[in-house]
Amino acid sequence: MNRLRGSVKWIALVLPMAVVSCGGADSSSEPDLGSADIALTQVPADVLCVHIVAQGATRTRDRFFDVTPGNGTVLSMNRLPIGMVQFSGESFSVPCSATGMMSVPNFIADAVAVQIDPGVVASVTLVMLRNGRADVSVDFEGECEQTGGTCSAMSGFRCCAGLACDATSQTCRPPNFGDITAVFAQSCVGCHGGTNTRISLVADADLYNRLTTPLPPTVPTCAGMTLVVPGSPMASFILQKTAAMPPCGNRMPLRCDDPMSVRACLSDLTVALISAWIANGAPPM
Ligand code: HEC
Repeated sequence: MNRLRGSVKWIALVLPMAVVSCGGADSSSEPDLGSADIALTQVPADVLCVHIVAQGATRTRDRFFDVTPGNGTVLSMNRLPIGMVQFSGESFSVPCSATGMMSVPNFIADAVAVQIDPGVVASVTLVMLRNGRADVSVDFEGECEQTGGTCSAMSGFRCCAGLACDATSQTCRPPNFGDITAVFAQSCVGCHGGTNTRISLVADADLYNRLTTPLPPTVPTCAGMTLVVPGSPMASFILQKTAAMPPCGNRMPLRCDDPMSVRACLSDLTVALISAWIANGAPPM
């Protein structure tokens, strides 16, 4: 078993302050500005940069912070939206100045929704899971299972980000195509069924082909984009289309970031799963 010992809980305290801005000279001024102090305790030894994303109903704010391993740290964020805000985080083993689009985070926190009210101290706990795709230097923290480790809902053992829990063997393994079609079945097929003229995400014999060839000109908004480019998460359109502000059309699942919607956006762990599958060459089985 590759169980990593210990546990890391990144406790983030969010303190909304000076909340309302009343219009004014700034043409982009929004009525929902707030500030937050996010306290991280126990920064792991191999974490030098933390990226925090705060996603509100109308706006997303993110910041990179250089951190000192082993220390407690307070991260200050301002210009935050008020209302229900989703906080998520990822960290890197290099200084923020050395991170780029291709950097693989060594820890990922699943999003936590927090109500930010004027004048009230909200608290957020971001539980950072070690990323199964990243190199592991085992000495502490990261309560999650690597490939081959035991996982089950019953025992509470969780696979590291980017790994799937095999239902039959109850062990963690790299994601396969079935894991991806299960995500589609849950989050996409309701709209992208067999008769959808833009793209069908039904798990039929041709699905893999539809994913890995450019969207045809008959698809109005995003023609030419390829959903899955085996080996390259960066080039794979599906990861842009399910993230905030895609280059064409709306974020999928449609209106998931609308606070009135019953539909959830893909969680960070689901995104990590899809990304790992693609990075592993998008095996069709
Ligand atoms: C509530 C219905 C709904 C759900 C759920 C939904 N979509 Fe969509 N999807 C749409 C609509 C409507 C469009 C066209 C408008 C647009 O692109 O914003 C679209 C467009 C797309 C496109 C671009 C094709 C084009 O029109 O250019 C892709 C790719 C896509 N969706 C993928 C997904 C994926 C992947 C999921 C699940 C994670 C998903 N969708 C979930 C309704 C939905």
